[in-house]
Amino acid sequence: MKHRVHVECYSGSRYAERPVTFEFLGQTHVVKAVVQTWRSPSALHYRLRTEEDESFELTYYEGTDEWVIHSPDAIASEAKERRSMREVLAKRIGAVPPSGIRKFFDIIATMDDVISLGVGEPDFDTPAHITQAGIRSLEGGETSYTSNAGILELREELSKHLSRLYGVNYDPAEELLISVGVSEALFLALLAVVDPGDEVIVPEPCFVSYRPGVIFAGGTPVTVEAKVENQFQITADDIEEKITPKTKALLIGYPNNPTGAVMSRERLGEIGALAEKHDLIVLSDEIYDRLVYGVEHVCFSSLPNMRDRTILLSGFSKTYAMTGWRLGYAAAPAEILAGMQKAHQYIIMCAPTTAQVAGVEALRHGEDAVEEMLREYDQRRRVIVDGLNTIGLPCVEPKGAFYAFPSIQNTSLSSEEFSEKLLYEQKVAVVPGTAFGESGEGFVRCAYATSLVEIEEALGRMEDFVKQHRK
Ligand SMILES: Cc1ncc(COP(=O)(O)O)c(C=O)c1O
Repeated sequence: MKHRVHVECYSGSRYAERPVTFEFLGQTHVVKAVVQTWRSPSALHYRLRTEEDESFELTYYEGTDEWVIHSPDAIASEAKERRSMREVLAKRIGAVPPSGIRKFFDIIATMDDVISLGVGEPDFDTPAHITQAGIRSLEGGETSYTSNAGILELREELSKHLSRLYGVNYDPAEELLISVGVSEALFLALLAVVDPGDEVIVPEPCFVSYRPGVIFAGGTPVTVEAKVENQFQITADDIEEKITPKTKALLIGYPNNPTGAVMSRERLGEIGALAEKHDLIVLSDEIYDRLVYGVEHVCFSSLPNMRDRTILLSGFSKTYAMTGWRLGYAAAPAEILAGMQKAHQYIIMCAPTTAQVAGVEALRHGEDAVEEMLREYDQRRRVIVDGLNTIGLPCVEPKGAFYAFPSIQNTSLSSEEFSEKLLYEQKVAVVPGTAFGESGEGFVRCAYATSLVEIEEALGRMEDFVKQHRK
């Protein structure tokens, strides 16, 4: 049975009517968080958590302008189910919050005409010759598993690729592993080197999976803030302060998501010296290695003495616009790689065969497409950075990836409020800096993996928004 309820909504806009408070059984409930939002043909649905930490489901029927709540029985049984789920789920799952990005995508899915600067993936299609290689391999019957490490041809191409770009040499037979995106390679690396109780130093703000990865592996993430005054480059001094006898590894990701920072050779060298001094393993996520603008990308394992203590993680998603193909790789000394492969063979078996064949084509003939996309990103980067600085959202120039990370401190809003209000009031999606760690407060991430026309329109809308919410 459904009950009609009185709901007070977010007042900034009529659209989507995000509930703020509602009356139910004589009690006023304050909405702490909208957990999930979805649309059905006649209604908008909100799953909410209240200040009392109870969850409710509210439905807004647009035709009749009515709010409805599920019957107390339904809520009670859901609460019971939730309790029992809580008992069933392992502590490591409870220790990790849901991704702060997901929530925004759930809201966006309920809205029309949103310009998204939210998603961290290329807006380009995979270059046609790469897709064709995948199609040909399917049509040719290549539909079986490959070897656990991935097809040798791809590992050989990768070995040449890394040697050509960075002068680092990896043996295709023993030191390269093809994975399901960098996502899998990252987890394999953590599973392979982290024991319960080990500490892993993670510079923040950082990609959303780093902390959960360390926790899932049984380790303890120790965060170090990459400061805006250092252009979000982490320093060896900042890291050294956090090193304890329990520190096993350092997990870095440059060019960085979300800040767009690229590390200078000098700063990386200092970190390398620190890793040697304290005998640390370095996990280096270099998925954006090809997306740098007017600066060099320094591959961590190419630094003096670093090859033997580095697990290099990279992939095809961003460089070749291949996010959906799920293709990545790890390069590491044979002993570490064998450990990773052990986890990989039991969890995944092998990366998708079709994607691996397409990956060979990408490495052999993808360079022109990479250059073309890079030129396009660079143009957008200049427009968005100039635009953000002009409208009062000061932005350190990002030298890599496809993200700008402007400060919102000229407004009176937290990064979460900024992102939510901007979405409801101007229909522009950005991601709050806090989705990438607490030190992201005061910033938002704007991805420029979207067309120039949309970027310019988004900047116009953001200008109006900033004027309205200026301190
Ligand atoms: C820094 C970073 N590492 C890893 C990934 C995951 O990439 P993949 O698609 O290869 O799993 C992403 C995706 O956004 C990322 O930004």
